[in-house]
Amino acid sequence: MSNCDDTNYKGVCAILGFEPEFVKMDFCDTAAVEQLFDSHKIDAVIHFAAFKAVGESVKEPLMYYKNNLGSFLNVLEAAKAHGTNVLFSSSATVYGEPDETPVTEKSPRKSATSPYGNTKQMCEDFLRDSVAAYGMHGIALRYFNPIGAHPSALIGELPRGVPNNLVPFITQTAIGKRECLSIFGNDYPTPDGTCLRDYIDIVDLAKAHVCAVRRMIDGLMDEPYEIFNIGTGRPVSVMELVTAFEKVNGLKLNYRIAPRRAGDVTAVWADPSLAESKLGWKASRTVEETLAAAWAWEKHLAAKAQ
Ligand code: WQD
Repeated sequence: MSNCDDTNYKGVCAILGFEPEFVKMDFCDTAAVEQLFDSHKIDAVIHFAAFKAVGESVKEPLMYYKNNLGSFLNVLEAAKAHGTNVLFSSSATVYGEPDETPVTEKSPRKSATSPYGNTKQMCEDFLRDSVAAYGMHGIALRYFNPIGAHPSALIGELPRGVPNNLVPFITQTAIGKRECLSIFGNDYPTPDGTCLRDYIDIVDLAKAHVCAVRRMIDGLMDEPYEIFNIGTGRPVSVMELVTAFEKVNGLKLNYRIAPRRAGDVTAVWADPSLAESKLGWKASRTVEETLAAAWAWEKHLAAKAQ
């Protein structure tokens, strides 16, 4: 809970109709992780716990290395001791500026452009090497750009401070928390000059995790360590996303064209066919559905704040 409150836990309870067990702890605390695994029968762990702000990681690399690597090493040690399957939340950021798109799982990883991206690559290697050495099983899911919220508007993203990512900045501008959205550059070599990304709906992304855990628990893996791109396979530009948000929510967004943001890649999107064939998973929600849910979530937060 270093970067959030219990809003989303309460939302999960409301959606499920019961309170799933929640243990508040720091995964960098080795003894606490050992105690957790000793006191529960855990078939699979999905490791999300990491700092994820690219810009912050450049300013505070040691904070990112200590937290993101230390926590995952504790989880791997405990998983090794208990024979627990491990699902790691990785990121398309490992591909950097790809040589060709769409990227497949065989596309080369590029040297990381931030300490945050470096922690993702290093944790993939920790998992790969642990599987090879200790007979463990692990899957890394490389998320493209997660966006949106649960259709119930009871859970969604809660960025602290000024959002780095596009969609929360859009919804906060629309609700009036931000004055104006800056579109970072419209002079890229793309159809409308703005960057292309593969925006994956958060509910579709969640379902991919269920498929991956099921694959491990049911012993369906082809290899003990597997990697899957989790994206839609559809490139969408910043301008297309802004226009779709305005259209589906019936509003006009205040935005301006600003200079390019350092570190942005021009275009990256997934070839998701491996996840479709092996996980039996395919993104199904449209950008419009996702942006409507994102807006509903922002309005829910605003109503709560009153
Ligand atoms: C998307 C596009 C911006 C904000 C990052 C991390 C990645 C993952 C997802 C954690 C870009 C443009 C953005 C704004 C804009 N993070 N943009 N105005 O940079 O593709 O990926 O977040 O897992 O690892 O690298 O996502 O949402 O920041 O930017 O014009 O106010 O929107 O230039 O083209 P990104 P993003």
